[in-house]
Amino acid sequence: MTYETILYQVHERAALITLNRPDVLNALSAPLIGELAQAVDHAERDDALGAIVLTGNEKAFAAGADIGQMKDQSFTDTYMGNFLHDEAERIERCRKPVIAAVAGYALGGGCELAMMCDFIVAARSARFGQPEIKLGTIPGLGGTQRLTRAVGKAKAMEMCLTGRMMDADEAERSGLVARVVANDQLLDTALTAANQIAGYSRVAVYLAKESVSRAFETTLLEGLRFEKRLFHATFATADQKEGMEAFMDKREPRFENR
Ligand code: HXC
Repeated sequence: MTYETILYQVHERAALITLNRPDVLNALSAPLIGELAQAVDHAERDDALGAIVLTGNEKAFAAGADIGQMKDQSFTDTYMGNFLHDEAERIERCRKPVIAAVAGYALGGGCELAMMCDFIVAARSARFGQPEIKLGTIPGLGGTQRLTRAVGKAKAMEMCLTGRMMDADEAERSGLVARVVANDQLLDTALTAANQIAGYSRVAVYLAKESVSRAFETTLLEGLRFEKRLFHATFATADQKEGMEAFMDKREPRFENR
C-alpha cells in the first residue's frame, strides 16, 4: 500500500503511522484523513500487530483541519459532505489501542485527532489548543466534548473561547496527556508502550479498552456492571488461564489471543 500524505511502518508488533504534510504542519486535508482511515484499517486487519502509534513530526503533530480546503465551503458542503467525519469515525472505531505521540503543535482538528486516540504521550515541545474561535468557527471533531472530559469545564471553556494553547506540562497536570518525555524519547516511549500492549492477551486488551471507553458513555452504575461482566468474560478465555498459571509458576505467560 502506498500513501501520499502519511507514512506507514511496522515496528515489531506495532504499526507506526506518521502524518506527512510537513509544508503545512500536517494540516488535515480530506485525502490525509482518508489515507489515515485506510492505514488504521490496514493495521487493524494485520493479525501480527497489536497496537498503533500515530505521530507527526518535530514541529507539528497536526495544526488542524486544512484551512485552505475548508474556507470556501458552504454549510451545505460541510453538512452533506460530512467534512472529515466519516474517516474520523473509522479511527474512533478502531479496536486495537491507538497511542498518539505528539510533538509540536496539536491544534484544532490536530488536538481532536490526538484526543480520539486511547492515550497521548507528549514531547516537551508539544502544544495543545482549540484555536477555531480565532477563525470564526468552533471545534468540530470532538474538541468541545473530549477536551472537557479530559481537563474539566474551566480549562476546556477557556481554551475553546480564547484559543489559548497548553504546553506539555500543563497538559499532563490537567489529565490531557498520559506522560511527557524528552523530545528525543517520544517515539521510543510510544513504540515501547505499543509493543508492551501488543505482547498481552489481545482479548484482554480489547476488553480493557472497551471498558475504559464505556466510562465516557454511561453512568457509573452501568459502567461498573459492564466492567464486571467483561471481567467475568475473561474467565472464559485461555489467556486468563495461561496468565494466572504463568504467574503461579513464576514464568512469562504465552498468550495465544483466545
Ligand atoms: C492549512 C496551514 C495550517 C492549517 C499551518 N498551515 N496550519 N495550512 N491549514 N490548519 C500552513 C501555513 O499556512 C504555512 O504555509 C505553513 O503551514 C507554516 O505555518 P506558519 O503559520 O508559517 O508557521 P508558524 O508561524 O510557526 O505558526 C504555526 C501555527 C500557525 C501557530 C500553528 O500555522 C497556525 O496558527 N495555524 C492554524 C492553526 C489553526 O487555526 N487550526 C485550527 C484549524 S480549524 P505557507 O504556505 O505560508 O508556508 C480546525 C477545525 C477542525 O481544525 C474541525 C473539522 C471538522
